Amino acid sequence: MSVVLYEQKDAVGIITINREKALNALNSEVLDALNKTLDEVNLETTRCLIITGAGQKSFVAGADIGEMSTLTKAEGEAFGKKGNDIFRKVETFPIPVIAAVNGFALGGGCELSMACDIRLASDNARFGQPEVGLGITPGFGGTQRLARTIGVGKAKEMLYACTQVKAEEAKALGLVNAVYPIEELMDAALKLAGKIAANAPIAVRATKKAVNDGLQVDMDKAIEIEEKLFGSCFETEDQKNGMTAFLEKRKPEPFLNK
Ligand code: CAA
Repeated sequence: MSVVLYEQKDAVGIITINREKALNALNSEVLDALNKTLDEVNLETTRCLIITGAGQKSFVAGADIGEMSTLTKAEGEAFGKKGNDIFRKVETFPIPVIAAVNGFALGGGCELSMACDIRLASDNARFGQPEVGLGITPGFGGTQRLARTIGVGKAKEMLYACTQVKAEEAKALGLVNAVYPIEELMDAALKLAGKIAANAPIAVRATKKAVNDGLQVDMDKAIEIEEKLFGSCFETEDQKNGMTAFLEKRKPEPFLNK
């Protein structure tokens, strides 16, 4: 059985980290398989991705501590780069990615969820960055994305003191959008993914890029980024379809990604 599974439901792709016995911890094999799975997503037919973990206990319990335990400084840096490159691929993936966080999201698991566009959590989810208790810093983006997601003060508490937060607190912090009983999590993720998939794909992709790229630069440049992406939507079939339908007071035809 592969350590990463891929399933397509209509226009939604579901990636499952499938190493349940180790609580879906990310070793090199899992990272390589995740990378390959992302490369193989058919962007013609897929409009949203969901990433989740196998089982009902853990999304991802972090990078694999056994594998990391004997790394040299250079190997540690290379392992960090491997994870960072893949998580950056998730973050900049052309279509939206939803994390369906079904349990522990610790270390690399919290980091993977934060590389996704939107996080939905089960009521047994737990977020944390336990790295300094293991003698290392977070290595797959945690020192950067946590502060950007929930603000510097609480992020630093979680990073320095390894304070873990449960699902409802994560929601209050803005780390997750919504919390569901575990048996309802995937349906909720699929429902949200379906709503995203029903909208005009060129516009959804351009919107993701505008938000992400705009956050990296000052407001004057950010607004220019938006203008270019806004302009890129015009003269597309989907723009004509959406606007004509509005003007004719009817629902648009299904969007075609054209
Ligand atoms: N790496 C490797 N194996 C892991 C793991 C990890 N991060 N997390 C869990 N496992 C393995 C355990 O070793 C155990 O394996 P065995 O059955 O072979 O002993 C199995 O998963 C089940 O785990 P537990 O018996 O510990 O389960 P539990 O319910 O008692 O505890 C837990 C669950 C609190 C999540 C606990 O497993 C835990 O604390 N895990 C480590 C969490 C962590 O520190 N993550 C951060 C890693 S560092 C990192 O991610 C760096 C980075 O930024 C890139």
